[in-house]
Amino acid sequence: MTKGQFPISKFEQLRTPFYYYDVELLRETLRTITREAGQHEGFCVHYAIKANANPKLLKIIREAGLGADCVSGGEIEACVRAGFPNNKIVYAGVGKSDWEINLGLDNDIFCFNVESIPELEVINELAAAKGKVARVAFRLNPNVGAHTHANITTGLAENKFGIDMRDMQKVIDEASQMEHIRVVGLHFHIGSQILDMGDFEALCNRINDLQNELERHRIHLEHINVGGGLGIDYQHPNRVPIPDFKAYFDTYAKKLKLRSGQTLHFELGRAIVAQCGSLITRTLYIKEGYVKKFCIVDAGFTDLIRPALYQAYHKIENLSSDEPVETYDVVGPICESTDVFAKQIDLNKAHRGDFLAIRSAGAYGEIMASQYNCRQLPMGYTSEEV
Ligand SMILES: Cc1ncc(COP(=O)(O)O)c(C=O)c1O
Repeated sequence: MTKGQFPISKFEQLRTPFYYYDVELLRETLRTITREAGQHEGFCVHYAIKANANPKLLKIIREAGLGADCVSGGEIEACVRAGFPNNKIVYAGVGKSDWEINLGLDNDIFCFNVESIPELEVINELAAAKGKVARVAFRLNPNVGAHTHANITTGLAENKFGIDMRDMQKVIDEASQMEHIRVVGLHFHIGSQILDMGDFEALCNRINDLQNELERHRIHLEHINVGGGLGIDYQHPNRVPIPDFKAYFDTYAKKLKLRSGQTLHFELGRAIVAQCGSLITRTLYIKEGYVKKFCIVDAGFTDLIRPALYQAYHKIENLSSDEPVETYDVVGPICESTDVFAKQIDLNKAHRGDFLAIRSAGAYGEIMASQYNCRQLPMGYTSEEV
């Protein structure tokens, strides 16, 4: 959605800040995923709810036929409410509490992605109490580094996630002794905002080695889940609104040696929803300092924490002005010096009341909002309702 396409006259009636979702772009993104994943037999795509659990988006994603990847009981509830079929729900997380495991069992979810032996034992006990058998995949830590921000790598030995691959055989053996556990697969996730297909290739190589080892022990697992992680172009939301899903799925199709009958699962979050969302905020004040000019807006890191948390870049556009650009620090109203969206960026000359769009904010935006400073949570509107 280019700058001129935002319906700013309609924004006048809405309280800012709010999220604005271009659902046409979301639908187009989903059609691209279905088309590109559909080129390869046995590819099954789940949406990682953690990226954005806005019910209006979940409905559209569910209607496109994707499964759901959850990391908490609350997310299982959100995707059940949104109508995702139970047999398409997977549940990962290093610290699943008993009520969350019970919720998964009660809903007969497709699979628990298990991250430790103590967790496996608890799932076995809780499933036994219900007379059920839980399907599990082991989340292995492949010790593959991803070329992304250090805070969003997950597949290194030093990260808390997953089971060390050297223990794969041991955990599978232990699980085979448990009456209420059925091991159906292996799960991996190396990190987020990954643009270098070489990182996914490295994961494929690791999985190929592990599968060879399993074969030596005559173990055949039906499901391989490679997690998510495909990145987006934060610099150019208009030029590259849809990530290169073809290159992504083709990489797995070429490099991962699936065994016959195996299904390959993906859990994409950011790549699905990031580009369709913008945080819309209004300029409160222009403050001329001695060294800088500040554009103070009514959104803060309580609405979008990525810049403060990961030093993430988001393109910012002044939707209300076409005047020559000036250089600003765009900052929020929160009493913290990290409440900065961007430093020294060019914006069309800004005035009090101007609408600014902070782009590519559909993933890890609204869902991470907080009420710090007793602020209200931002609303989320779709382009169909505004
Ligand atoms: C287990 C798991 N799967 C999937 C995802 C989604 O990642 P992304 O939004 O980068 O696709 C995450 C995010 O960290 C995750 O932890």
